[in-house]
Amino acid sequence: MTQNLTPADYLKKILTARVYDVAVESALEPAKNLSRRLHNKILLKREDQQPVFSFKLRGAYNKMAHLTPEQLARGVICASAGNHAQGVAMSAHKLGVRAVIVMPTTTPQLKIDAVKTLGGEVVLFGESYSDAYGHSVQLQNEQGLTFVHPFDDPDVIAGQGTIAMEILRQLQSLGSNRLDAVFVAIGGGGLISGVANYIKAVRPEIRIIGVQMNDSDAMIQSVAAHQRVTLADVGLFSDGTAVKLVGEETFRIAHSGLVDEFMTVDTDAVCAAIKDVFVDTRSIVEPAGALAVAAIKQYVATHKTKGETYAAILCGANMNFDRLRFVAERAEVGEEREALLAVTIPEERGSFRRFCEVVGSLPGGPRNVTEFNYRISDAAQAHVFVGLTTHGKGESEKIAQTFTRHGFESLDLTHDELAKEHLRHLVGGHSALAQDERLMRFTFPERCSSS
Ligand SMILES: Cc1ncc(COP(=O)(O)O)c(C=O)c1O
Repeated sequence: MTQNLTPADYLKKILTARVYDVAVESALEPAKNLSRRLHNKILLKREDQQPVFSFKLRGAYNKMAHLTPEQLARGVICASAGNHAQGVAMSAHKLGVRAVIVMPTTTPQLKIDAVKTLGGEVVLFGESYSDAYGHSVQLQNEQGLTFVHPFDDPDVIAGQGTIAMEILRQLQSLGSNRLDAVFVAIGGGGLISGVANYIKAVRPEIRIIGVQMNDSDAMIQSVAAHQRVTLADVGLFSDGTAVKLVGEETFRIAHSGLVDEFMTVDTDAVCAAIKDVFVDTRSIVEPAGALAVAAIKQYVATHKTKGETYAAILCGANMNFDRLRFVAERAEVGEEREALLAVTIPEERGSFRRFCEVVGSLPGGPRNVTEFNYRISDAAQAHVFVGLTTHGKGESEKIAQTFTRHGFESLDLTHDELAKEHLRHLVGGHSALAQDERLMRFTFPERCSSS
């Protein structure tokens, strides 16, 4: 791979990139509700509008469009179970070339079918991405195919950089050239490498902010360590950005100073951001697609900014339908509109009434009960799992303290990942719960009776 390309080289590569045979110039639109709520102008770059519902076909197509006729005649190969697979398959179809896509055997049928529909030759191999990758390298050598990397390739990076080119051009049609920062999700780093190179070459004053999940932050750890760090595990909620090892070239670029700041966001914040995007656009983005919006909210809350303009790249919308319930439930907590508490109350006449009175007189005015589960633990006490609406950050702690002050021992579960993930779905006696003792205490009574 050609390395040590300068920002000027990348600018040229982006300006001459070929993406529009397959990609569309996606819209850059103001998010009216979010802008009003955050007191800053938030612009959404709608890469969810691409034909394969993510930006990945820009890089894949640009890479393939730069191959020689001989290379194209032999065909291309990639290993991917996600958006890159669809980008490569669609690009190959457009160019009329063979595309072999190696996917782990665990890939959902929906994604296999999507690639096949686009004309890709699917090879199922191994149980993980690494197995599939190893096999794709073998096939590449055996069959003389060209490997299309999902992020660590200058042509792929340049293709993704066309997003930044569009953003700067589209600003003008929105009536103001002002743009203070662009927020970009990072997986392997191809997207941010392209976007940062273009923006810093043309409008260096615009801040580039890279965003990763708190449990999948290989780029942030690598930049901090000044060398690439391989993560032992990555959280899979945002599957589009779940990368254990970032690219060599993408690391070099991210580490070179073109990225002004890195941030992490958590699952709840991403769920809340998916909802925010839905409210403004009526579209549902996938978790990776909402990272940038989650980060903007966090950035505004931390820096207390007003009147600035931020762009978020909504980089994908390949959401698994069965995730929606989880996302909807967690969104409330992510917005800090709901507190979840485990409260212990004495198993005696009148104590439940006292509990209700405390709920009714909590500071901050009336609130709705969003969740309720009452279980007797033993002859002396019962456990209540309760969800209450809140009006802002930090309220759950105060509510827990109020319960404790009134003699009800309480545990604030609002920020407890494990509790939230399992409790709601498992209340009522699912065997998996027994694996977690703390949850067991609150949901598995030794006997049940009404009080
Ligand atoms: C929706 C989505 N967002 C973000 C990314 C991360 O892009 P990169 O690996 O170039 O950092 C991906 C990668 O596949 C993706 O599919």
